[in-house]
Amino acid sequence: MINYTEKIPNNVDLGRDRVLQRALEHWQPAFLGWWYDMGPTESRNYDVYLRTAVSVEPDGWAHFDYVKMPEYRWGIFLQPRDEQRQVNFGTHKGQPAWQEVPGEYRSTLRRIIVTQGDTEPASVEQQKMLGLSCPSLYDLRNIFQVNVEEGRHLWAMVYLLHRYFGRDGREEAEALLARRSGDTDNPRILGAFNEPTPDWLAFYMFTFFTDRDGKFQLCALAESGFDPLARTCRFMLTEEAHHMFVGETGVGRIIQRTCEVMKENKVEDPSEVRALGVIDLQTIQKYLNFHYSVTLDLYGSDVSSNAANYFTSGLKGRFRETKLDDDHVLIDASYPVSEVLGGKIVTKKVPALTALNERLRDDYIDEIADGVSRWQRVIDETGIAFRLSLPHKGFHRAIGNFAGHFISPEGEVLTEEAWKQHEFEWLPGPKDYGFVQSLMTGRVTEPGKFANWIAPPLRGINNKRLNFEYVRFN
Ligand SMILES: [Fe+2]
Ligand SMILES: [Fe+2]
Repeated sequence: MINYTEKIPNNVDLGRDRVLQRALEHWQPAFLGWWYDMGPTESRNYDVYLRTAVSVEPDGWAHFDYVKMPEYRWGIFLQPRDEQRQVNFGTHKGQPAWQEVPGEYRSTLRRIIVTQGDTEPASVEQQKMLGLSCPSLYDLRNIFQVNVEEGRHLWAMVYLLHRYFGRDGREEAEALLARRSGDTDNPRILGAFNEPTPDWLAFYMFTFFTDRDGKFQLCALAESGFDPLARTCRFMLTEEAHHMFVGETGVGRIIQRTCEVMKENKVEDPSEVRALGVIDLQTIQKYLNFHYSVTLDLYGSDVSSNAANYFTSGLKGRFRETKLDDDHVLIDASYPVSEVLGGKIVTKKVPALTALNERLRDDYIDEIADGVSRWQRVIDETGIAFRLSLPHKGFHRAIGNFAGHFISPEGEVLTEEAWKQHEFEWLPGPKDYGFVQSLMTGRVTEPGKFANWIAPPLRGINNKRLNFEYVRFN
């Protein structure tokens, strides 16, 4: 028997919901089994200085203490209910927000929740081995924090499946623990979540680019007319911000360290930079190109009747839907999308309802561009002449109008042969991955020490010093 408020902090009255208790009692051991198998390698006895959400109050969602990760209190939190809330877009606009699943949208909603839920354990699986090559205790603690919170996000989606979808919800919750990132027989649902995350540069890129896709998807679902989904996603967003912080500052610190070493030693040639044990800026640009392009695919086809249906039905809104100044129905609106016609990229207007994936992708790109310009500032401040850039939206795409075309980072349409000739100037190849991994063969565990290839952060976690013992190995 589980003592619910102690073991599973929650604001869903779990102690009084027998049906939900029974479902979770069955699922929780399976979740722990998954964590032991697929959670961070060798970590089960570590004491990690983690934040745990214990309530949704301002002082309750970031409670810090040493925790062994298998004993992390994965809780269930929804933003408190607003009794006045309505469906704010689509054909049901103006109706009270739904507190139960509308029968006609049941299977669509379940699919949306399962697709979101599947990404959460997937990223833990992708990052499983990285603790063995951490550049510092600070960074080790951060990856573990991201991992336990992705675990909690899985709990959040499983709560919705158990509470609102009966037997098929329980089956879907089991299947979320059965799929495996990168598995040929039973892979995770979305492409980017089956790519390996082989090193720490890839991890920081992933948390900058791919966790931010998570943010935009959660923002769109936080507008949902299905109120429990909206409230769940609102709370998840509070945690997602830290994941993106880890990514942005992680890449920024690597860039900073590289530039410092380049300047000190007056070298620019990538091979000389590498010889000094730091990651050359050209390789960082290639990783950026890779993670950006595979993450753009997560938004789906540029023109999509599914996206139109989700919106019209009131299930998934736009980024900041209620702040947008239009009719929120979009019957007469149009939106520009690009495609390749006769060897050229052309832009045309399509009905806005069908272009909602593209619109969310564009909102995402705006935010990404801001982050990349902050990385650029790190380079500029050291006086090194190097420009980081975002490749063209059509570069290296596998989904949507650009799939099957060979677009250069500058946006030229090439033949397959011409593109392949340049592939490893644009994307990391085996040699690049091999080099980056050669820097990360062991872990740095002395408090306050950092690997040679990364600069220390500006400050520690929760106002602790940089030499604080963020992880104790026992
Ligand atoms: Fe997440
Ligand atoms: Fe995340």
